[in-house]
Amino acid sequence: MKFELVNSDISEISADFEAIFVVDKNLDHPFIKDAEKFDFYGFKGDGVLVLPESRRIYVGIKALEFDAVRLGAAKIYNSLKNYKVKSLKMAIYICGCQKKSLSAVVEGFLLGSYEFNRYKSEKKSYDLSEIYFANNEFSGKELKPKIVEAIGEAEILAKFTNFAKDCINEIPEIYTPLKMAADAQNLANEIPNLTCEIYDEDYLKSENMNAFLAVNRSSVHPPRLIHLVYKPEMALQKIALVGKGLTYDSGGLSLKPGDYMLTMKSDKSGAIAVMSIIAAAASLKLPFEIHAVMGATENMIGGNSYKPDDVLISRSGKTIEVRNTDAEGRLVLADCLSWAQDLDPDLIMDFATLTGACVVGLGEYTSAIMGNNEELKADFKAKSKPSGELFTILEFNDYLRDLVKSQIADVSNTASSRYGGALTAGIFLDNFIKDEFKDKWMHFDIAGPAYIEKPWGYNQAGASGAAVRAVIYYLKELAKASCGCK
Ligand code: BES
Ligand code: ZN
Ligand code: ZN
Repeated sequence: MKFELVNSDISEISADFEAIFVVDKNLDHPFIKDAEKFDFYGFKGDGVLVLPESRRIYVGIKALEFDAVRLGAAKIYNSLKNYKVKSLKMAIYICGCQKKSLSAVVEGFLLGSYEFNRYKSEKKSYDLSEIYFANNEFSGKELKPKIVEAIGEAEILAKFTNFAKDCINEIPEIYTPLKMAADAQNLANEIPNLTCEIYDEDYLKSENMNAFLAVNRSSVHPPRLIHLVYKPEMALQKIALVGKGLTYDSGGLSLKPGDYMLTMKSDKSGAIAVMSIIAAAASLKLPFEIHAVMGATENMIGGNSYKPDDVLISRSGKTIEVRNTDAEGRLVLADCLSWAQDLDPDLIMDFATLTGACVVGLGEYTSAIMGNNEELKADFKAKSKPSGELFTILEFNDYLRDLVKSQIADVSNTASSRYGGALTAGIFLDNFIKDEFKDKWMHFDIAGPAYIEKPWGYNQAGASGAAVRAVIYYLKELAKASCGCK
């Protein structure tokens, strides 16, 4: 899809269709030209009205703010995609936040038009491919380059969010740890200042990453520790991103029931998120040194499986009692977090589809943020808000800490209570964070929104690319705050 800013009035642009946002049911705006027809069609300013005869589409949005316009743009696309409409024009509203909200419009079109059709024999193709934004005020010299830049940035962000969806939606037969490693290497080959190191099982053994290795034991696909590094010339901070990369989670010997196993190709969403984030950050040339650490393996079942009752000696030296082989993500992350701390980062964030409990607690739309630093968590939530992704902060406490104690080892991979499962998984990980990093670490459980069963918002069924946009918005705001610019 091509986006263009046109330096003229909307009436002077020739396009197949025109789209108009109706903001907060305000039907009085000068952009609205068909008000006399609304009554007949029962259009009151919310929902969508397509008027083929006047070649206009009206889409009601709640406000001229990020997620509302993102959603509005996706609705425009989806309402018009089955028409033979190739080009679309929109007059854009000028307001203080213009630059940002226009990026969200572009994101909405690109995210809303995503489709995973690799396995469909009949692939539909849609015509809508040219979007023109019009406003006379672009003749004001300063505004135009800034808006062009904002559109370019939105295109990069949407590209890597959709890239994440493609990887996660790919089937587990194809998307193995080796495939993930190959994708990471390809990104490094394509994007300047991005490098990739791939470590195999011999390396994992030499590093005593026995918790990670135990999860892999009965898989026919070898594990990989994938390390992508983005180093710009000037870096404000060194940031480590760690991702759970279970290319399939059958549960292992503590086998999942059939219904629960379905969708577990998406258990790699954390690792794919960090790969996509670093690729987007490098493409956007953000001023941070970023390390993406991805723990890639399957959790399968066989004669060589690790077992409930086993005790694993993790990379950190802490011992882990295995009580359930389906609580495998935290084992992989324990070793990867230990490894990532050796990079001595200023900030460390991990992303994982870690618990079903998080989905039960927060619903399908919201991810959890956990960690020991209240300010850091609140800052992430505030700075990432314009991304439209939803987060809730979950609080650790000392009663919960007691629940992951083990009789036989230093820590147990399941809690002794059936309640608070998202938090006890976070607390398990906290056991592998060294004192000097306690305040520099955040854990994100993205199990709810990572994989979508029924489409919502601008998300199709399947992977959503959860955390990619949120982290990029956060990093951009962090960069602005650090350099004191607006
Ligand atoms: N990958 C799952 C968590 C999950 C469940 C993600 C549903 C997305 C949707 C994870 O490895 C898991 O199975 N966790 C167990 C932990 C339990 C055994 C302590 C769970 O949540 O049931
Ligand atoms: Zn599991
Ligand atoms: Zn899992």
